[in-house]
Amino acid sequence: MKLSVSILSFKNDDYINKNIEKLNACLIDYIHLDIMDGKFVPNKTWTIDEVREISTLKSSKLDVHLMVEDVKKYVNEFASLNPQYITFHYEAVKNPMEIITLIKSYNIKVGISIKPETDVNCLLPFLDFIDLVLVMSVNPGFGGQQFLPSSKQKIDSLLELRNQNNYKYIIEVDGGVNDETIKYCQNCDMVVVGSYITKNSNYEENIKSLKLKE
Ligand code: DX5
Ligand code: ZN
Repeated sequence: MKLSVSILSFKNDDYINKNIEKLNACLIDYIHLDIMDGKFVPNKTWTIDEVREISTLKSSKLDVHLMVEDVKKYVNEFASLNPQYITFHYEAVKNPMEIITLIKSYNIKVGISIKPETDVNCLLPFLDFIDLVLVMSVNPGFGGQQFLPSSKQKIDSLLELRNQNNYKYIIEVDGGVNDETIKYCQNCDMVVVGSYITKNSNYEENIKSLKLKE
């Protein structure tokens, strides 16, 4: 199971570069970059210019999570970072296929995320065209929230859909994942973990305690 560490809690951190370097020295697969515009969600995080100032992100493998209304604008901006994934929210766009095509035009892997109240069936027309489905196990907008156990049914039905149709997307879950709630995520291919890892400076120890299966 892959690990994508959310650095949301570093937002106002003076030592963000040092902390990212420390994370990159641990056994992690991606840095999960939460981009929030203050419109799709009430919180605001980094603009593209602010991200470009964070030098250590240039050498990080990025898993970009867009929680924004103007998805096209942010895709065009964040594609310049050459991330592994750009994930947008199903609820933010009228025509998901248009965004899928746009992200693919940059040779970047495409993810679609659904909020807790959005049904997996909304994604059926797109599953054959995407590389990642991001199941939100909290309401997007803030770190440190409680994992919603109902997310497990979504994860399990996405696994079933993939097996039945031979789709290629990976299943990622995001929000409130810790050493307790990881048990609901066993059918995921990747987990996003933020505050459980970054709550103190013992990143390696916190990662080990998740006991992520190989
Ligand atoms: C919430 C973000 C998540 C969050 C995860 O809107 O998308 O990535 O930062 O943080 P924790 O693991 O603290 O819930
Ligand atoms: Zn996220």
